[in-house]
Amino acid sequence: CRVRRYNFNVVMKNATRLCSSKPIVTVNGQFPGPTLYAREGDTVLVRVVNHVKYNVSIHWHGIRQLRTGWADGPAYITQCPIQPGQNYVYNFTITGQRGTLLWHAHILWLRSTVHGALVILPKHGVPYPFPAPHKEVVVVLAEWWKSDTEAVINEALKSGLAPNVSDAHTINGHPGTVSGCSSQGGFTLPVQSGKIYMLRLVNAALNEELFFKIAGHKLTVVEVDATYVKPFKTDTVLIAPGQTTNVLVTADKSTGKYLVAASPFMDSPIAVDNLTATATLHYSGTLANTPTTLTTPPPKNATAIANQFTNSLRSLNSKKYQAKVPQTVDHNLFFTVGLGVNPCPSCKAANGSRVVASINNVTFVMPTTALLQAHFFNISGVFTTDFPAKPPHIFNYTGSGPANLQTRKGTKVYRLKYNSTVQLVLQDTGIISPENHPVHLHGFNFFAVGRGIGNYNPKQDSKKFNLIDPVERNTIGVPSGGWVAIRFRADNPGVWFMHCHLEVHTTWGLKMAFLVDNGKGPNESLLPPPKDLPKC
Ligand code: C2O
Repeated sequence: CRVRRYNFNVVMKNATRLCSSKPIVTVNGQFPGPTLYAREGDTVLVRVVNHVKYNVSIHWHGIRQLRTGWADGPAYITQCPIQPGQNYVYNFTITGQRGTLLWHAHILWLRSTVHGALVILPKHGVPYPFPAPHKEVVVVLAEWWKSDTEAVINEALKSGLAPNVSDAHTINGHPGTVSGCSSQGGFTLPVQSGKIYMLRLVNAALNEELFFKIAGHKLTVVEVDATYVKPFKTDTVLIAPGQTTNVLVTADKSTGKYLVAASPFMDSPIAVDNLTATATLHYSGTLANTPTTLTTPPPKNATAIANQFTNSLRSLNSKKYQAKVPQTVDHNLFFTVGLGVNPCPSCKAANGSRVVASINNVTFVMPTTALLQAHFFNISGVFTTDFPAKPPHIFNYTGSGPANLQTRKGTKVYRLKYNSTVQLVLQDTGIISPENHPVHLHGFNFFAVGRGIGNYNPKQDSKKFNLIDPVERNTIGVPSGGWVAIRFRADNPGVWFMHCHLEVHTTWGLKMAFLVDNGKGPNESLLPPPKDLPKC
């Protein structure tokens, strides 16, 4: 094991997409940002220096951060932001994880341009549990706005309406041929006939779950969220913001140029969605310009394709990668996730109301001191520990919902005993309209033991849980008008954020945090904060 040092300079940079230029916030001037490489067991030191006018923090999405919550990154949850002109060294060790993850800014909407891949190679001499690829390629999917994303969300918050959707999707930073600005081209992936390639797919989009496919080629899924899965073949990958997926592609043609497409899964209920991003897979001997073998992306709301993909995911339950699914449950939690409206006399929107989002009818209010500091130093008045274990009212969650089901505001956390086992059912609600919610839990991987459409029925549905080889991940799509059940062991002391990874829903309040107590042994408690931890 070694120490890997990285310098992340947060700087403005002019970027041109869709025939127009604008300054964007970047790491080291790159969009997408640099790929961070490490090996399982390594210690990573990333020195982040803030040269822009915004407050900044960086999150290492999916890294367990065992006892090192100070390096997790969500602003006002585990740290105060790095202010303009300041710096902070994120210091963490990668234990028991290998695969693809991502890093991204975790404050306001800066994630739109401040993100990149995080590649963890297996320990030296440890092979992949699948054929070794000839080459590995990082493929980062994202969104592009012509206007400034901070302005987009600030306007929406003022009006009470939903923010504009992005103007394009991107593959490794480029919209591709759809943009009509052909001089900019798109991402190209050169391959040699007969060879196997591993694509490390990352969805860094702010607000969009995506389908990914390559004309004429099957994709073999081998890993999601840096956990190995039982390999399966598919035409189409479904990937939500915050999720990562490794696929093998065999270059089984002899020649040609094939379309690579990333397209939205759901139709936005509030606006017209933007277009498919394209790239080109081309065999050696062909020029990397416009693809000639095309493919049609799945239509919007293609839930059958999405479900088939999701239901194919199983953890690789071999001895070596044994899934440690909790078989018993200490905390049995039921959380509704969804959108609603609350009165807002000053809002321009529909009858003076504002779109809000909540978990168990609590709209989370960001504190002004980081929760982890408040917890560690016993600062009172920052949060309360009365986050409800179940919703305040029982209703037909997937129906139209009772009138005036308003949310309460609060900075509430749910307290978990160290090393306890947790079952959490996340139930979508349809108070405005049902929507998919890719929910991300910091500090843990969890097992996706159950999933269904409609209202969760504890008696019947729990009997069908998969406690043998459920997929293990850190971000899970709660289906529109449905539910998922996850299980995990609370073996990581600290304060851990959980939120919808559609940034617009997070902004509206679809977020909460778990507080996990210290254990009894010396290796079971949170380490003290580093000296350079930013101050609020
Ligand atoms: Cu990838 Cu809390 O986020």
